[in-house]
Parts: sequence; C-alpha cells; structure tokens
Amino acid sequence: MSLEIGRLSYPLGAEITGVDISKPLDEQIRRRIHAAFLEHSVLLFRGQSLTREQHIEFGRQFGEVDSQDEVPKYKHPDYPQILVHKSNPNGQPADKYPGKIWHSDHCYRLIPAMATLLRGIDVPRVGGDTMFANMYLAYEALSEGMKKLLEGLHGVHYGGKARVDTSTPERAAQTSQIAPPVAQPLVRVHPETGRKTLFVGEKCKEIEGLNSDESLLLLRYLCQLAARPQFVYRHRWQNNDLLMWDNRCTNHIALNDYDPTQIRHMEKTTLRGTPSGYVFEGSRQYEGPRL
Ligand code: SIN
Repeated sequence: MSLEIGRLSYPLGAEITGVDISKPLDEQIRRRIHAAFLEHSVLLFRGQSLTREQHIEFGRQFGEVDSQDEVPKYKHPDYPQILVHKSNPNGQPADKYPGKIWHSDHCYRLIPAMATLLRGIDVPRVGGDTMFANMYLAYEALSEGMKKLLEGLHGVHYGGKARVDTSTPERAAQTSQIAPPVAQPLVRVHPETGRKTLFVGEKCKEIEGLNSDESLLLLRYLCQLAARPQFVYRHRWQNNDLLMWDNRCTNHIALNDYDPTQIRHMEKTTLRGTPSGYVFEGSRQYEGPRL
C-alpha cells in the first residue's frame, strides 16, 4: 500500500489513499500527511472504520487533542474529547444542528482550534454536505487598500449556546462565564505556512472600533467574499469518511439539507491551536452578518 494524495478541488482539499489510519503512523507517512494538510487545508480519508479510541489516537499524532470542556453540550459521555453531532433518531433533524453557519472551530476562544477531525458515521443518502472555504484565497483577493484597512482591526466572535452546560442553573451560570466574546485579528498569519489569511465568519458579530453600519457592511462583504464558489470545496459524505481540516485558514458550514427521516451522525475531535485574540470587554450592539 503506498500513500497517494489527489486534489479534491482547485481551491482546497485532497484525498489521501493508501494508508490505514487506525494504526499508529510511520513517521515518514505522518510527515507527508502533515505536509499535505498544510498544502491542501482539508484532507479526506475514505473507508476508515475507526473506533473512538482510534479516532482520538489518529489526531494525537498531529497535535494536542482538546478536552472540549468549553463545549459541554455535545460531549460524548465516555469519551470527553469527542463531540457527537447526531440528528434526532425519531426522524427529525436537530433543528439546532451545530455548524449551520460559516465559521472556523473555536474562533470564539482564546485558543482557537488548529484542526478538526470529523468522522461520518451514519450519513444521509443525499444532502447533509459540508462546505469549506479557503481563507487564504479570500484574503489574497482583496485590494491592497482593503488589506491595509483590515490590518490591525479585530472582529468580535461569540460562542453561542453550545458552550453553556444547561444541566443545572448553577452550571449554566458557571459555563456562560467560561467563554466570553473574544476579539480576534481579522487578518492572521498562519503559524506554520507563514501565509496571511482572513479570520472572519458568521460568529463574528462586530468589528471593534467601527460603528454598527460600518461593521455590518464590512463583515457581510468579507463573509460573502470568502464564500465565493471559486474558493469553496463541497464535501459529499460517505459512511466512514474522516475529514481533517485546518481551522487557521478555512471556514466551513454544515448544510443540514437532507431527508428528515434519515439520520446524520457525525463525531468530531479538535486539536488545540495557539493563543490568539483577547477577551472583548465591550457590550454587543447588533446581530452581525447572515449570508
Ligand atoms: C461543524 O464542525 O461545524 C459540523 C460540520 C458538519 O457536521 O458537517
């Protein structure tokens, strides 16, 4: 079996074949996968029937697996590193299905996720795709004037309800304090590739220092730019797919458009990134962009 890397689309994504990721990786193979991860930003491994332990162990070879303490709502009861995203087995998709807006994982934390590893366990026959946007290309498409304007500006990201553990009123009060809104630079330098990338999505509700009209217009423009078809890869899931993506230079969205009598069961781990941004002390003024 020899490892091969084939592009999935022009802007981003590659499929890796010829490797069994259920076992510890040979160091040379691990390095090739890591290099492909940096080059293509989204990697697909098909036909990988992994146990939960193997899912966690595969990720551990590329970084520190997050304990997910700040996303208590979806934590697996026996595997705290795994978040379970499963539509209602009674035939209704979870109307609050996570990920239905363009975002990058844990953008609202002081340590945003470096990578996400999402496994398709039981996927609908048609629909329920996940789309990915290349945020390097979005940045590079900006004029020099706009790049200059964005340099030094911070967008304020909000975590939403997933981070709040509603099991008791006390836990709800505690956990809503864990992750306050975080201001992140709109333009970041990828710590491994050195390339500049836009860091903005629909969880970013305002730009610090701008008034609400300016902020909303600019955020909407940037989000729409990043979602242009020429910057996007759309993944059609099969059971036992594992996707590993780089949250530092991509956004993603779960489409949640499928037959409600079918189940969509995904499980994910994330790898911790490096510190970024600061806690936003101001008060929220408005809703932010929706595409
Ligand atoms: C997410 O990580 O936002 C969920 C993606 C998906 O379920 O397709």
